[in-house]
Amino acid sequence: MQTSALLFGVTLIMGAWHANAEYKIGVGIADVTGPPAEVIFMGYAKLTQKGEGLHLRQFARAFIIDDGISRLTFVSADIGMMGHALRRVILRQLQEKYGDLLYNEHNVILSGTHTHGGPGGYLMDVVFDITCLGFVQETFDAIVDGIVKAIENAHNKMVDGEIYYDVGQVLDANINRSPSAYDQNPEEEKAEYEHNVDKELYQLKFKTKDGKPIGVINWFAVHPTSMNNTNHLVTSDNVGYAAILFEDSMNNGALPGRGEFVAAFASANLGDVSPNIKGAKCINTGENCDRNTSTCGGLATYCIASGPGNDIYESTSIIANRIFAEAMNVFASTGRKISGPIKSIHQFVNMPEQTVEITDDLGQKQTVKGCVPAMGYSFAAGTTDGPGEFDFQQGTVTSNEFWNLVRDFLQQPEPDDIECHAPKPILLATGRMKLPYDWQPSILSTQVAMIGDLVIAAIPGEFTTMSGRRMRKALNQVAKEVSGVDATVIIAGLSNTYTDYITTFEEYQVQRYEGASTIYGPHTLSIHMQQYRKLLKALLTGESIPEGPVPEDATDKQISFVTPVILDLPEIKRHFGDCLVQPQNEYHIGDTVTVQFMSGHPRNNLRHGGSYLHVERQTEDGWEVVATDASWDTRQLTLMFWWKRTFLASSRVTIYWHITERYTPGIYRISHMGHSKSPINGIVPYEGSSKPFAVFTSNRIYRRF
Ligand SMILES: *[C@@H]1O[C@H](CO)[C@@H](O)[C@H](O)[C@H]1NC(C)=O
Ligand SMILES: *[C@@H]1O[C@H](CO)[C@@H](O)[C@H](O)[C@H]1NC(C)=O
Repeated sequence: MQTSALLFGVTLIMGAWHANAEYKIGVGIADVTGPPAEVIFMGYAKLTQKGEGLHLRQFARAFIIDDGISRLTFVSADIGMMGHALRRVILRQLQEKYGDLLYNEHNVILSGTHTHGGPGGYLMDVVFDITCLGFVQETFDAIVDGIVKAIENAHNKMVDGEIYYDVGQVLDANINRSPSAYDQNPEEEKAEYEHNVDKELYQLKFKTKDGKPIGVINWFAVHPTSMNNTNHLVTSDNVGYAAILFEDSMNNGALPGRGEFVAAFASANLGDVSPNIKGAKCINTGENCDRNTSTCGGLATYCIASGPGNDIYESTSIIANRIFAEAMNVFASTGRKISGPIKSIHQFVNMPEQTVEITDDLGQKQTVKGCVPAMGYSFAAGTTDGPGEFDFQQGTVTSNEFWNLVRDFLQQPEPDDIECHAPKPILLATGRMKLPYDWQPSILSTQVAMIGDLVIAAIPGEFTTMSGRRMRKALNQVAKEVSGVDATVIIAGLSNTYTDYITTFEEYQVQRYEGASTIYGPHTLSIHMQQYRKLLKALLTGESIPEGPVPEDATDKQISFVTPVILDLPEIKRHFGDCLVQPQNEYHIGDTVTVQFMSGHPRNNLRHGGSYLHVERQTEDGWEVVATDASWDTRQLTLMFWWKRTFLASSRVTIYWHITERYTPGIYRISHMGHSKSPINGIVPYEGSSKPFAVFTSNRIYRRF
């Protein structure tokens, strides 16, 4: 009592002293685009969803804030999720450059946007990499390089600045994809909220001391799954496009990823949240799917959510524009100025070793524990954003002999596991599977940061809507109890480690996909709540806590079945960069230009900071680049031709440019840049351009043919 009163006083004094503290702020952006062809995407776990080109480039966006004593770095990257192996290497590289005071385990938060349109194989846990044919060094390196570079860029641009917070609402960009699970939550709890997903858009705005905006972070809970599992072009999806729209509006015509102002749309408690707001329908009959199981006549494969657009591109654009528009609204408001010290804390936690005391339905206290990781049957059913490939249903709470046999062939769960995970029937006893290395992490990263009275909880997975709400409430309560502060709490999802989903205990009981993918059992959320309360309390009182058990480094055990590029050969009598399909002579705004080039394999060089294509407009000074492969209006498809000798030899790239109103009439051409590989010369660059063509206004009166 006395101690806490004393600490309370100290915190107040420090708070008052620090309230005048000034911040130094830096923002940076860099490319994390992975291999755009041949590598399987991370997200839908669909083996046939391999990259065939680029829709949007993937970027990492870094924000560094420093109060003169402490520093906090937040990175949002256009990737599926962050993993421990990535974070370890990124931190190591930063520390080699800057020492371990500025960037360390405690003060760097790395968060994935959760796009399902990026190449995979970067997590070093078997279950996540197996659907990408194992570990993919090229993807891993692309992410490490990009995130380190984004942080370096921010590091080199630190200026005196100010931070503002505000919140908005986007009503028409997300729905709950497991409402039957959400409905299991207590009535009085649900009654506190108007919607079954969070509609709030939380925003931090960064300005220089003289008021010039330099960056923004938005947190909005939605799955970046507007691009569904039929997409084969690398993309940052709805939130990635929202970021490009925001940056475009602030950066005076700078090409995507090359401007000074940096805007992130980061992930939050998106576990049960879909952007496909027309909802799930049976694509065979047009009827509603069964609500509890998301099936049509017993089959999950027909129950698919879509919308609001007519195809995945239109839907991506509509969702992106809605989130972007509200983010702009919030940005235009003054907001609440954030002041006070920066603090952060981190601890590794071995989940199966955790216990927590809960009160059951009868008011009895009991001690429960975390389980050894396992996935339930309903995990294999997939979701209405991307159903699975087998005959599984969501909502499955009974097992069957056939699949149990298959499971036991891989790894038999212990009787303890079966009891611990109940009512989840175990399909994969991932926590017991160690060959050739861990299938799923048991040790996860937990982290909390504070900027003044703003709390950021970096969550190692996908919290459902209600899980996020409970966590925000709990941390707000802790801040009140410990230091009398009415803290704003932000959930930063998919951070640091990936541990699948975290549902509430009640949601877990009906075993929708999210419940089946809550890998540490029914009390996963309660353990998280206990842990994050502890972290925030320690942060507020200045108490130090042990580092926790550091996860094993499995780098040397990684296995990959992704074959390297051996050789590129142009087709007979062709050269790399030759334009094989030329544009027409004339186009009008609204038309799409299609050209095709003889190309090398795009994996030879990912062209970070550059582009595989340029749309160029003729000016008095020569050709000016007006669009790249990161621009929404361009799309690029890579075609590969297999040669007799069972390795890949020739490739072509087809480039589409949709001429929208943002382009002015004039003379244009399209160029393609790439690298080819040969055993003699190694990897060498090449480039080529189409012939020039004219673009006229869309006004038909002036049409000349
Ligand atoms: C759906 O699940 C709820 C809750 O478990 C249950 O009460 C209801 O009967 C189920 N409906 C059907 C059609 O199975
Ligand atoms: C994906 O979206 C397209 C429309 O763009 C639709 O035709 C297709 O059925 C969808 N497929 C899945 C599996 O979601």
